[in-house]
Amino acid sequence: MAVTDAVGGIETSYEQGILHVGLRRPGKKNALNLAMYASLVRILDEADRDDSVRVLFIYGGDECFTSGNDLSDFSRFSDVESASPVLDFLSRISRFRKPVVAAVHGLAVGIGTTLLLHCDLVYAADNAIFQLPFVRLGLCPEAASSYLLPRLAGHRRAAELLMLAEPFSSELAREIGLVNHVLPAEQIIDTALNAARKLAAMPAEAIRITKELLKASFAGPVHSALDQESRYFMELLEKPDSRKAIAAFFEKRSGESGEG
Ligand code: COA
Repeated sequence: MAVTDAVGGIETSYEQGILHVGLRRPGKKNALNLAMYASLVRILDEADRDDSVRVLFIYGGDECFTSGNDLSDFSRFSDVESASPVLDFLSRISRFRKPVVAAVHGLAVGIGTTLLLHCDLVYAADNAIFQLPFVRLGLCPEAASSYLLPRLAGHRRAAELLMLAEPFSSELAREIGLVNHVLPAEQIIDTALNAARKLAAMPAEAIRITKELLKASFAGPVHSALDQESRYFMELLEKPDSRKAIAAFFEKRSGESGEG
């Protein structure tokens, strides 16, 4: 029987070897704040240790996977220490030993796209829209996407997605290998869960070692990229370009609510 536990924007439930992790902050398009990252770190640590968890299944809402990092938290990051829940989450998801299956509906912005680079199977709805908006915010890639995306898509495709930073479709995401399959929105959860159930029924040790071997040749570069990116990211957050872009997002919001 499923057990459900909702902690500040993250909802978890467990059923037959699968730990479901739902992003649940609909009023903010599932933007991930520091408390949500801290919950995710705790969930990943427990799931890694708990033998009854064989697969992690991550999903968002019907219209939005996540709009990425909570932009209001960026002003609270003064150094690497203050951003530690985010960095800890990236470290944990990149080292997580069990299969991770993701189901993506609607918007997957920033970390909503980059975290998929650390998942094993990704199912995207035909309404999914991806975006890596870092440079538009005066920032640089995160989550080792500066290493993993060119590895997946080649330099020029990665440069286009990271430097022009425009939204892209689930079809393009499938073409470059960021997602396994694109399906009608109403089929995504069932299809992704079906795959998660198949993985959960496989011999756990064989699956764990297969994942370890699949990632072994690039684990070192991924962790170097995480370190290097986070240092640059923190530096850029202090610069006027980034401060202006983030302030502009919230000014636009307050302008819109003033008009409405
Ligand atoms: N951080 C903080 N708040 C966010 C957010 C984010 N990443 N994304 C959305 N929100 C908030 C909005 O401020 C708004 O809050 P309010 O209703 O209290 O004003 C609410 O979520 C709804 O967002 P809204 O912009 O009205 O939805 P939309 O459908 O018009 O646009 C997005 C959705 C995702 C395209 C747009 O919100 C956006 O561009 N968000 C920022 C994405 C981003 O840059 N992420 C960081 C990547 S590093």
